[in-house]
Amino acid sequence: FVPTVHTLAELRERVAQWRARGERVGFVPTMGALHEGHLSLVEEARRRARRVLVSVFVNPTQFGAGEDFDRYPRTLADDVEKLANVAADLCYAPAVEEMYPPGFSTTVAVGGPAVADLEDHFRPTHFSGVALVVAKLLNQADCDVAVFGEKDYQQLLVIKRLARDLDLRAEIVGAPTLREADGLAMSSRNIYLTAEERRIAPVLHRALTEAARRIADGEPIGHVMGEAREQVAAEGFLIDYLEARHAETLARVARRHDGPIRLLGAAKLGATRLIDNIAVESA
Ligand code: PAJ
Repeated sequence: FVPTVHTLAELRERVAQWRARGERVGFVPTMGALHEGHLSLVEEARRRARRVLVSVFVNPTQFGAGEDFDRYPRTLADDVEKLANVAADLCYAPAVEEMYPPGFSTTVAVGGPAVADLEDHFRPTHFSGVALVVAKLLNQADCDVAVFGEKDYQQLLVIKRLARDLDLRAEIVGAPTLREADGLAMSSRNIYLTAEERRIAPVLHRALTEAARRIADGEPIGHVMGEAREQVAAEGFLIDYLEARHAETLARVARRHDGPIRLLGAAKLGATRLIDNIAVESA
């Protein structure tokens, strides 16, 4: 099993011991319900640091009203067992009151990649909550490197911006999306899918992959993305967005030579909202 601490004081004590020995500290923040995608981030952190810390905290400030905060899966005992298999050194699982004690009043306002008319349009308070908790967690962990998944691509860019703008010490590293055999991006929320929805779910990735290949082959972006939207909608998804954007700024791109391109999509399948993204091979 992996030792677990629940308070900031205990966390600081453990990390201070590592640092006193000159050991590099890697950190993987999560909301738990861990799957192989999360565990691949732990392995990436392991390659970059002598010690690996994983946090499990379902952060209330990043959930909007009517989102799934209350029913988000909480499986700490299982999570700690999985973390042992990838040789994490410590799990930090604070209570909500430890992170947000009475009187807590500070917010983090985000801009740049957080204002791109993508996730931010559909979840207007989400990235400010993510930035707040990630700023706190990185300060608390005093880590050298923190690993985040490309699965949440806009989030990764927001966190890179946050770390630069607030002079956070940690190097922010992105790691590739782990997928099921049929291409569906692993997600803690996939358990919400019915059997029929689960069958349809990989269509989002399939459409993105096909669109990325066609754009790389030189077909016009607008046309290709239009057809990708039709393909996804025809399978019963309710599309929030399916767009080609500049991979670093998330600015809209019209032509393949406008820069490195990332295709990003979000769509609802019944009650479950899926997101995914993929790189277009550069021109
Ligand atoms: P959570 O959804 O638990 O994800 C934790 C980390 O795992 C994130 O960096 C996410 O991008 C990554 N991840 C999720 N699915 C993945 C997959 N299939 N392959 C690779 N990486 C994957 O993202 C959050 O939590 C929170 O917003 C957090 C950053 C912890 C702040 O509360």
